[in-house]
Amino acid sequence: MKPSHRRPIIAANWKMHMTPQESIEFLRPFLRHFTRELPLDTVICPPYISLPAATEVLSDVKQVGLGAQNMSAEPAGAFTGEISARMLKELNVEYVILGHSERRAIYGETDAEINRKLITALEVRFKPIFCIGETLEERDGGKVEEVLQRQLVHGLESIGPRRVTEVVIAYEPVWAIGTGRTATPEQAQETHAYIRSVLSEMYGEDTAQKIRIQYGGSVKPGNAAELLSQTDIDGALVGGASLEPGSFFEIIRNVAEAIPGESA
Ligand code: PGA
Repeated sequence: MKPSHRRPIIAANWKMHMTPQESIEFLRPFLRHFTRELPLDTVICPPYISLPAATEVLSDVKQVGLGAQNMSAEPAGAFTGEISARMLKELNVEYVILGHSERRAIYGETDAEINRKLITALEVRFKPIFCIGETLEERDGGKVEEVLQRQLVHGLESIGPRRVTEVVIAYEPVWAIGTGRTATPEQAQETHAYIRSVLSEMYGEDTAQKIRIQYGGSVKPGNAAELLSQTDIDGALVGGASLEPGSFFEIIRNVAEAIPGESA
């Protein structure tokens, strides 16, 4: 049974999809599904360029939060093509995805760089969605624990127990992202429990119990509720299945319905 103090969090990672106009066309029908208050947090992370349009549509909406997909660690300056925390703050952004495996693999982001971004994000009171996860090669080589421990210890360096509870961890096995290949709920639970044990070593058990850990990688309406029924799985980071309002809401509804005492 999942501790009730960890409120589930379902986030859409739109990656490089959805123009400003398409974002508006997604959000209008999507918001119509929210006919009552749901016992979970919903977050939409559009590309930077679509954030202003999304901010406007979401301006009176309490149930759906807005996130960015990346951010510079620098406050301002000569960093061509980068976006600062302050710029995002002005658009009512609350969350920021940091260290996504595509940023690590394609753009070479290191644990140290991600750590600096996490510190900057927490300074401006964003809730970072901090992604970690192993590649297939690392899993097959028996290195899952070593990789996750390294990503957690270096990524969270010098972030104390009070601030770390604002961080949402997203465990995304790289081999499950966009492949249609999901970790089984048991496999995912085992890894989430390991992540929590590392957090417990770093911060103590009380703090570790407060940190939300999302699962990501081919989450869809048919597997979300079962994944989230696992003790240490507190949410989902959804790519492909978040690009269509009906399928993304179905994930949210299926998870909400599976929370004891709820029906959506
Ligand atoms: P996916 O992507 O749901 O398409 O596998 C998840 C992610 O990369 O965040």
